[in-house]
Amino acid sequence: MVGMFPMGFTVGAGSKSTQNRRGYTRVMKATALAHPNIALIKYWGKHDRVLNTPAVPSLSVTLAPFKTETSVTWGTPIDHFVINGVTVAGDASARVAQFLDLIDPKRPPVAIESHNNFPTAAGLASSSSAFAALALAASTAAGQALNPTALSILARQGSGSASRSVWGGFVSWTTADREDGTDSHGHPIAPKDHWDLAVLVALVSDQKKAVSSRDGMNLTQETSPLFGGWEASGPADVAEAKAAILAKDLSRLGTVMEHSTMKMVATMFSAQPAVIYMQPATVAVLHAVRALRAKGIPAWATMDAGPNVKVLTTPQAAHQVEATLLQHVKTVHTLSVGGPARLI
Ligand code: PMV
Repeated sequence: MVGMFPMGFTVGAGSKSTQNRRGYTRVMKATALAHPNIALIKYWGKHDRVLNTPAVPSLSVTLAPFKTETSVTWGTPIDHFVINGVTVAGDASARVAQFLDLIDPKRPPVAIESHNNFPTAAGLASSSSAFAALALAASTAAGQALNPTALSILARQGSGSASRSVWGGFVSWTTADREDGTDSHGHPIAPKDHWDLAVLVALVSDQKKAVSSRDGMNLTQETSPLFGGWEASGPADVAEAKAAILAKDLSRLGTVMEHSTMKMVATMFSAQPAVIYMQPATVAVLHAVRALRAKGIPAWATMDAGPNVKVLTTPQAAHQVEATLLQHVKTVHTLSVGGPARLI
């Protein structure tokens, strides 16, 4: 970062004071790390698009070692956002700028440098870790010390699923009753150490998806005749998954997780035009997971807004599940339950 900006303005590590041309006197830098989460019970559909509150409650597990690390310098000559070494422009840049405005509408220009150690925007929940890390780094750099709930409310407005990545372990995200949406945030259910699970990602594609989760869910909500049934069944699925997690009952959790996934996919398929994230290998993996279960191996599948399949299993069965998945895809990532977002 040092020397990135012209006009003799130097941005270095740590926080320090200086003055730029706009007279903004404080330059603060903070770096945060967040893990992505995958929804065991899905968020799909919005209650309020501006506040980014969900139509349904959801429940997730935070996953390591996938992570986003984000550095924010608050008070620079121009806004400059870099993700994985590439300068962000257009709509994506506007989305980040708007998010920073939530922290301080009178903010100075800000520099962001963010890095994921896993594919971005490919249905691997990169937006969950991205906005959780950005919320923590940017609010800290702006001199605000937000508690996890406030951080979750902020992160939610960048990307819904990010509201859950503030905590490690198992987290639910509630719908809003209040008009301003401030009661729609993550709630920790059980920490990382509660239950040692494995989640295997069968990588069907690491390409950026053609339809963003935001566009896909809006189209689905507007056009799928199945959306009402999906919405009505969400709260019971969250209650069932929460009970399964507290009881450490993997079969119960896997069953309700798959059911939530397939109901979400049904709303996508019944949108007009249909939203199809699956590829042939996606379906092959789904069948392989069923076949594993028929042989008594604990394995349940879930998908998000992308072709990749995530398989929930035990650490003991992970090797056997991985070998099966590798018959259908070239790459399998084995993940475990991750910790909370934190400053580094
Ligand atoms: O947080 P978003 O806007 O990327 O939406 C995430 C949507 C799903 O991944 C499909 C489900 C979820 O709950 O994470």
